[in-house]
Amino acid sequence: MSDKAKPATGSTGMAGMVVGNTSVCTVGKGGHGLHYRGFAVEELAANACFEETAYLLLNGELPNTSQLADYRARLKAQRGIPGAIKDILEQLPGHAHPMDVMRTACSALGCIEPETNQNNQDKITDRLLGIFPSVLLYWHHFHDSGQRIDTNTPEDSIAGHFLHLLHGKPASELQQRACDASLTLYAEHGFNASTFASRVAVATLADFYSGITAAIGTLSGPLHGGANEAAMELIQRFDSPDDAEAGILKALETKEKIMGFGHRVYKICDPRSDVIKGWSKKLADSLGDDKLYRISERIEEVMMREKKLFPNLDFFSASAYHQMGIPTGMFTPIFVFSRTAGWAAHIVEQRADNKLIRPSANYIGPEPRAFTPIDQR
Ligand code: COA
Repeated sequence: MSDKAKPATGSTGMAGMVVGNTSVCTVGKGGHGLHYRGFAVEELAANACFEETAYLLLNGELPNTSQLADYRARLKAQRGIPGAIKDILEQLPGHAHPMDVMRTACSALGCIEPETNQNNQDKITDRLLGIFPSVLLYWHHFHDSGQRIDTNTPEDSIAGHFLHLLHGKPASELQQRACDASLTLYAEHGFNASTFASRVAVATLADFYSGITAAIGTLSGPLHGGANEAAMELIQRFDSPDDAEAGILKALETKEKIMGFGHRVYKICDPRSDVIKGWSKKLADSLGDDKLYRISERIEEVMMREKKLFPNLDFFSASAYHQMGIPTGMFTPIFVFSRTAGWAAHIVEQRADNKLIRPSANYIGPEPRAFTPIDQR
């Protein structure tokens, strides 16, 4: 075996392996940094809106004022749902997981508005960024109250549009800004599992929708995007910070994984966590009820003290989203609304310098042996 093909010993999850080139972002430089096309994510979350960030990821540079206005108008024009997709959303069970709804809708749109050639990548990206919140809320309201909602809102931002569709009225400025910042924080993260899945899919020359559908399925697991939902379920187990401390200590004793903590790449901290924590605090203050926030903060303290583990983006996103009145099952779909920008940037990049992604495995099965016919076994 050549040096290039070193066998894996045990389950490595490809940790630390460099499997391709990218100019979209750097993750974990110095143990804690995250930069989209060279810009620090904290600066983008504080000063740019999500659409500015998506434009940057997809075009390589930040937009000027008129480019941003045009881009937002383009995305806004993509919020309508075709009748055939509405039919599918109505047929899906109301008890389905919202991530399964997102995955199905993405795949179905690929049949109804197929990618006919790769010159349409930008249009399909706009379409998905525009339509995803509409799809989720159309399905939600149809099954929740039998309403067939109009999925157009006057809101220019995806965050405002989503919250308006969810609550049936415009959200407060604070909620819109918090949701918008969270979309920026979730937009891109290098060769994470879902992005890698999308690159593997399109590297076979499969279509754009296959790449995004593969990514949505991969994101749904609790070790990846589903961690924000699992973190919410954890936080809701506790009535007070003291109760949370006792519960977490007990969980650690039994080696339970605490969702929303730890990270494959970051070793010092997740730079996104403090940003979303700040928004969670502001939302708690605005509600005049900081119980969830205090419970979350105590869990953070205990995990640092006991395990030296820091919260990742998913942990304080849970309390932030809950305080915006967002149902827990929608937490990971919000991740989809945002990460579609990153996935699309990676699909375009993969296609521009494509090579089939096909790793090898370290075989640990039986040696070659003689076949025995069925009647002699
Ligand atoms: N809670 C408790 N212990 C944790 C932990 C967590 N959230 N994350 C890691 N650890 C511990 C592991 O038990 C392991 O301890 P050990 O060496 O005594 O067995 C050690 O830290 C290394 O963890 P491991 O799971 O091997 O690291 P990884 O790089 O494979 O996993 C994650 C990274 C993100 C999958 C992992 O930290 C995790 O499962 N976190 C919870 C899910 C989550 O929040 N996912 C979202 C990621 S953005």
